Amino acid sequence: MSDTATPPVRLRADVLAVPAYRQGATPSKPGYKLSSNENPFDPLPGVAAAVAARVDHNRYAAAGMPDLRTAIGAEFGVGPERVHLAAGSVAILFQLVHAAAAAGESYVFAWPSFEAYPSLGLANGARGVGVPLTAAAEHDLEAMAAAIDESTRVVLLCTPNNPTGPAIRRDAFDAFMARVPADTLVVLDEAYREFVTDPDAVRGEDVLAAHPNLVVLRTFSKAYGLAGLRIGTAVGHPAILAAAASVGIPLSVTGVAEVAARASLAPEARAELADRIGEIVSRREELAAGLRRLGIDVPAAQGNFVWLPERADAPGGIASAAALAADFAETGTLVRPFAGSGVRISVGEAESIPVVIEIVREYLARQEGSK
Ligand SMILES: Cc1ncc(COP(=O)(O)O)c(C=O)c1O
Repeated sequence: MSDTATPPVRLRADVLAVPAYRQGATPSKPGYKLSSNENPFDPLPGVAAAVAARVDHNRYAAAGMPDLRTAIGAEFGVGPERVHLAAGSVAILFQLVHAAAAAGESYVFAWPSFEAYPSLGLANGARGVGVPLTAAAEHDLEAMAAAIDESTRVVLLCTPNNPTGPAIRRDAFDAFMARVPADTLVVLDEAYREFVTDPDAVRGEDVLAAHPNLVVLRTFSKAYGLAGLRIGTAVGHPAILAAAASVGIPLSVTGVAEVAARASLAPEARAELADRIGEIVSRREELAAGLRRLGIDVPAAQGNFVWLPERADAPGGIASAAALAADFAETGTLVRPFAGSGVRISVGEAESIPVVIEIVREYLARQEGSK
């Protein structure tokens, strides 16, 4: 039998040392998939019809997609030249890190945060510097500012933070930006922006104009429910976006993704979008409140997910993220464990909420019993 783990050719040792991005698992039996922060609703009205009507799959999509970029730019009060599209906002993160940080240079991010961050610089030898979150599971912006040095080319800010939930507040963001060198790129990753209800949270559209070194990322994957079609957006200085495009894979946004995104921004779709966001936010609050009633110290949840911290013996946490995730998997419901730090549970179907709370309750009862 051949050994499939050992490459038959010489590959880069630094690449081989890094584990590939792990996708949230898919249930092997009937249950809820709460492991990938997906949207439980179907795409918005008009999207399926627009996708079905797009039949010229033998052609490349027209690059540029000016109508879509104009519509997105309008939300920020900027023109299409300040909007960049790619096959998911994760692709744009990759492009921006590659455009700014060369081998031996670095980029700073909070940790734990989006699991793709640590490997973004791998292919070009840029070093990722993870700065631990505060005890409240928020970005430690003081420590992040202190971590910026001569080698830093990019800072990634994730708000609300995946997987822990808190959003960065506007005053803290302003104070942080005052400490970041003006020639260092700051990326505000707002993948879950539409779910934010904290009035004090920073909002990309409010701060973009003041900071030429800031790029704001959004995605159609979460609130809009188009994760499978892969389309994300960046808004910022045209020269930064042009550099990102230069290192991106050309022609990766499909025409189907383009029409789906455009249909999602149509007025009738937006009305439905607002209702769905309201529904997901109210499920999130119900889930967080239920878990807090069980004694779990759930941090401020501003995305479409909640966080259960792992704390060996401390109250307010779970003893083992892996054990709780295994309990969930037994029932067919999947959640995302982060070894040594906690479990993230996405907000899914309404019926999943009592199921989740009951599994956690049983886990905690056993945890208590085994003390
Ligand atoms: C914080 C954050 N940024 C970016 C992404 C990437 O989203 P996409 O590539 O689907 O736009 C995710 C996906 O989970 C995320 O959690």
